[in-house]
Amino acid sequence: MTKPVVLVTRSFFPELLQQLAETCSLVVWTEENPPPYDWIKGHLPQADALICMLTDKIDPELITLGSANHLKVISQIAVGVDNIAVGSATDHKIPVGHTPGVLTETTADFAWALMMAAARRVVESAVEVSHNIWRPWGPEVLCGADVYGKTLGLIGFGRIGKAMARRAEGFEMKVLYYEPRYKPENASISNAQYVSLDDLLCESDFVSLHAYLSDSSRGMIGKAQLAMMKPSSILINTGRGAMVDHIALYDALKNRTIAAAALDVFDPEPIPENHPLLSLHNVIITPHIASASTATRHQMAVMTIENILAALNGKPLPYCANPEIYK
Ligand code: DGY
Repeated sequence: MTKPVVLVTRSFFPELLQQLAETCSLVVWTEENPPPYDWIKGHLPQADALICMLTDKIDPELITLGSANHLKVISQIAVGVDNIAVGSATDHKIPVGHTPGVLTETTADFAWALMMAAARRVVESAVEVSHNIWRPWGPEVLCGADVYGKTLGLIGFGRIGKAMARRAEGFEMKVLYYEPRYKPENASISNAQYVSLDDLLCESDFVSLHAYLSDSSRGMIGKAQLAMMKPSSILINTGRGAMVDHIALYDALKNRTIAAAALDVFDPEPIPENHPLLSLHNVIITPHIASASTATRHQMAVMTIENILAALNGKPLPYCANPEIYK
């Protein structure tokens, strides 16, 4: 019997790929940079399954092409699937797999690390020392902001937002949160208070983004929203870069209408090498690594393979982003 073909857009955990290769024939892109769109397009007509990354644009054209041939499932090593035309996959009855839940605590840990690092100027100080600049101890040298006891504003209050609220308890912080629709079940989370977006921006010392990228969250932090934030406030983004207007953010940081920002995500990724934000000292930018603990990434890969094997065996995906296709 011929093995089903699985197209894999990046190599990962060899033992997991070897395990998958026992029952499937793999076509793997092995370079560090993502494959060109045309590589995926060229191989998709032969594929029964696609394992993709958030760096791949899986648009309606690719989905229609796959569907017209053998494609039975798309499974991504990420929880966010905004790079995939999920609506189109649903129209073609193709399940889209993702990795919810497993990266919650790891991502919240990293968002917390960014918040601490930006508040206490950790990266700026370490970069100075690595350039042989050790400023003598002085009462005002490299002073930053306290985190303990301050107000944390969470935009998006799903799994990761709630994990941030749990961490905030230990720092005795006041927690405000906003999401477009109030969910009464969240009222039982006693240390977090639902507020309007404007109130959250005006009152928070730290504003951390944990929403999914959607038509309504795209560009939600622009000039007007940044202008509402306190001059001492710090913006953290571990969600998706496209939620923030980065030119407006540059202006706010340069003119010190907010104090600092820490961004793990950007739009586009990678950040263009001449982007003005790279010239500022009061911004930390990391390359989309909030979920990057080895254990979490391994588990994300395991879930991705479980999704693929389920679909190839005619079963529903255990971790499905468009479960409505099964109704
Ligand atoms: C996700 O899973 O969507 C994250 O952004 C990956 O780190």
